[in-house]
Amino acid sequence: MKAIVLGAGKGTRLLSEKYNMPKVLRKANGKPLIGYVLDALSFLEQEDITVVVGYKKEMVYENIKGNYKLISQDEQLGTGHAVMVTEEEFKEYDGPILVAYGDMPLYKRSTYEKMFEKHEKENATCTVLTAVIDDPPAYGRIIRNDDNEMIGVVEAKDCTAEQLAVKELNVGVYVFDSKFLFDNLKLLKNNNVQKEYYLTDIPKLVMEKNKKLITHTIYNSNEVYGVNTLEELEFCEKILSEETK
Ligand code: UD1
Ligand code: CA
Repeated sequence: MKAIVLGAGKGTRLLSEKYNMPKVLRKANGKPLIGYVLDALSFLEQEDITVVVGYKKEMVYENIKGNYKLISQDEQLGTGHAVMVTEEEFKEYDGPILVAYGDMPLYKRSTYEKMFEKHEKENATCTVLTAVIDDPPAYGRIIRNDDNEMIGVVEAKDCTAEQLAVKELNVGVYVFDSKFLFDNLKLLKNNNVQKEYYLTDIPKLVMEKNKKLITHTIYNSNEVYGVNTLEELEFCEKILSEETK
């Protein structure tokens, strides 16, 4: 398996301009957020991990040591677009790709591994990590049909009131078949509230094309808390410092 970690975003809500730092380099408990993600993915070879950088990318280049592949997304047009800019890197590759977000530092290695194992065992085209949370944050909602099959993700900002009531969330980790992924990223449209190309629109295409879309679900786990705001940074720091005690 290979992996892509997205870290091009600025982190407006973290006052990145004031702190003169891109979001994924903000530290929690002494280590940059993206460092936690890369460490949890250390069951893969570094050269098999592509990191997408953008805002203040020179700083990220300096901070990520090792043989990771770094690719620049010059304009941040959304998570789907961020994966699209890596297409050239994966031209010769035909196999599973895990996509993770650099602002979600709490995932454990075992969570990534379990998801990957399920993806392989079920021969899926796309496996989405989902979480059921009693008091859901503003994450994308997992939409299921009457047969309880996943049919898509709707971003919280794009949700109807009924969709917002769903307690199963998209928590930003996916495994995709590489060929399906890159063929279909080209079809994404940015007709949503944020005018972005959402990676989260890919699962719906998997379903529509009768390919195998599956989920791996975790329940009330702390691992799913990412960092968008200063409060969330503090929250993650608290969890990380308890873990290292
Ligand atoms: C994303 C998911 C949402 C999910 C949540 C979980 C999408 C569209 N939405 O929302 O469903 O519930 O994560 O945390 O994917 N990035 C880039 N380039 C871009 C945009 C983003 O590299 O053009 C990076 C950011 O640096 C960040 C990650 O992708 O590390 C996620 O982006 P962010 O804007 O934080 O997505 P969310 O709104 O949190
Ligand atoms: Ca985020």
